[in-house]
Amino acid sequence: MPRRERYLFVCANRRPDGAPRGSCAARGAVELHARLKALLEERGLAATEVRACTSSCLDVCWAGPVVAVFPEGTFYGRVTEADLPELVEALARGERLERLALGEDDFVEPAARRGAAG
Ligand code: FES
Repeated sequence: MPRRERYLFVCANRRPDGAPRGSCAARGAVELHARLKALLEERGLAATEVRACTSSCLDVCWAGPVVAVFPEGTFYGRVTEADLPELVEALARGERLERLALGEDDFVEPAARRGAAG
């Protein structure tokens, strides 16, 4: 298979029920990855353009499910299956989907944000 233009890493980490950070798998990331792969295939992007892989924890659990796009380094958060068609179309155009892109604040754990606020 050829090297793809982009590689997507869908965090599929699973923590035990009740773990304080939760996990992307507990929020449906495994099913999300399967649907994303199917849509990329249907759109004709899977073989040459975009490969959707799973990953371990990307350390932004509170914003999960998380999809990281490389080489751009864009992180998408709180991704649902309903978002996937729009995400796939953005990937087909080589564009960033701003409404799902995490900002710098999203990389700080909420508890730490509250602590910093006082
Ligand atoms: S469990 Fe998915 S980012 Fe940590």
